[in-house]
Amino acid sequence: MAYNFFRKKTLEQLQTESESSSLKRSLGVFDLTMMGIGAIIGTGIFVLTGEAAAGTEHALGAGPALTVSFVITGLACLFAALCYAEFASMIPISGSAYSYSYHSFGELIAWIIGWDLVLEYAVGNVAVAIGWSGYFKNLLDGLGWHLPGWMSASTGTEMVLLPNGAWSALTPAIESKYADIITTFPHTTALINLPAFVITLLITALLYIGIKESARVNATLVIVKLVLVGLFLWYGIPHFDPGTNWEPFAPNGWKGIMTGAALVFFAYVGFDAVSTTSEEAKNPQRDLPRAMIIALVVCTILYIVVAAVLTGMVPLNILANEKPVADALIAVGEDQVALLIAIGVTLTMPTVLLVMQLGQIRILYAMSKDGLVGSKLHKVSRKFSTPSYATLLVGLFVAILAGTIDIGVAAELTNIGTLFAFIIVAIGIWILRVKSPEAPRKFKTPYFKVVCSLCVIVCLGLMVALPLVTWIRFFLWMFLGVLIYLAYGYKKSRLNN
Ligand code: ALA
Repeated sequence: MAYNFFRKKTLEQLQTESESSSLKRSLGVFDLTMMGIGAIIGTGIFVLTGEAAAGTEHALGAGPALTVSFVITGLACLFAALCYAEFASMIPISGSAYSYSYHSFGELIAWIIGWDLVLEYAVGNVAVAIGWSGYFKNLLDGLGWHLPGWMSASTGTEMVLLPNGAWSALTPAIESKYADIITTFPHTTALINLPAFVITLLITALLYIGIKESARVNATLVIVKLVLVGLFLWYGIPHFDPGTNWEPFAPNGWKGIMTGAALVFFAYVGFDAVSTTSEEAKNPQRDLPRAMIIALVVCTILYIVVAAVLTGMVPLNILANEKPVADALIAVGEDQVALLIAIGVTLTMPTVLLVMQLGQIRILYAMSKDGLVGSKLHKVSRKFSTPSYATLLVGLFVAILAGTIDIGVAAELTNIGTLFAFIIVAIGIWILRVKSPEAPRKFKTPYFKVVCSLCVIVCLGLMVALPLVTWIRFFLWMFLGVLIYLAYGYKKSRLNN
């Protein structure tokens, strides 16, 4: 029997599928742009910037040149967004990069991308839920309400009870701070990160109820989130002192800048999730490209300004933790604003969870419609018009991982998976320009040869900056995916029948 791993879907097939979708079309360009911003601003800027600037034991920091890291990653994402925008204007179907690849490369690569996107959306959400849990716990500790150690970190984390009554993970920083007395503190081993687990289930419930409801909650929280960034800048800019804090500007040179860039790439992940709502957008071919590009440009500008102000207002050692924005404000005497921002971040970070989870569910839904995964996963609830089984499955998968694994593993896997998807999308645009130059496109990537090439080069550069262990995990995940395709998807595919 001859295998046909590269069977493709035609543009007409995809168009027909989009028109016969049973999802409800209710999202306009405003909702979509807010969803883009909702998915972008989160753990990356509020949590990871500190480590990216100051460095860790394992990674060089960018220093104040973190601003340059944000420019580099912003450009890579902008190139990718221009490619996504062209695809979204041609193929208005909910599978995003997965569906685009089905048309440009054929089924095997489409499956590989669909499988890879689990790393971006589901595993990405695991990292976000854990990041959120850290903020939430810090906030509770600040108010004097301490969560028990066994329920406040990923499974197996060694926890220690500090003199202020709060449980903390036994990190090298804590060990050195309490070097002489740490053995006298009570210890325990964490069983589950309960806040991360619970927040994921709450988001799942919201997504189950409906897309319009989810979009409304998202838009409200995004406005609050933008106000928070504005507040930080308003109170931070008067303390901006580059003469003192920007010397030296790039303490670890280009190596530090690229390592920082590979880490803060996470801050941009998610803008592409908007493209998975094609079947729920009122006018996807016109609105999706606009929404993705507007959201990305707004966030890129904000990120560059925030990075510049943050590193210019305090010395690097103040930033070396998981709540750099709040700590920088405290360091310059703005304690009230810092508290307000900590509360605001806890309240608004779940929009990232909401939009990325939505992306994962819609991709699974699209793959199920194609027969590559179980057929129940594209069943749409009559009452709520959402794919109910896919919503529950993704919710449980993310909740269980968020309750048990480590944030670093999740964030690095997300970055490598997303960068890989961006590369495939850029190559796909080039292929289609050559193969189907006449196909109607409401949006065309300008100077596509330059944009696609730069997208591939910069994304590869960022992938190379990730640790070897992340590459190994990535290959293992992809290998597992190919095995599943060969054992199940290839035979069950609708194109096989
Ligand atoms: N961009 C999202 C965040 O930073 C994933 O949380």
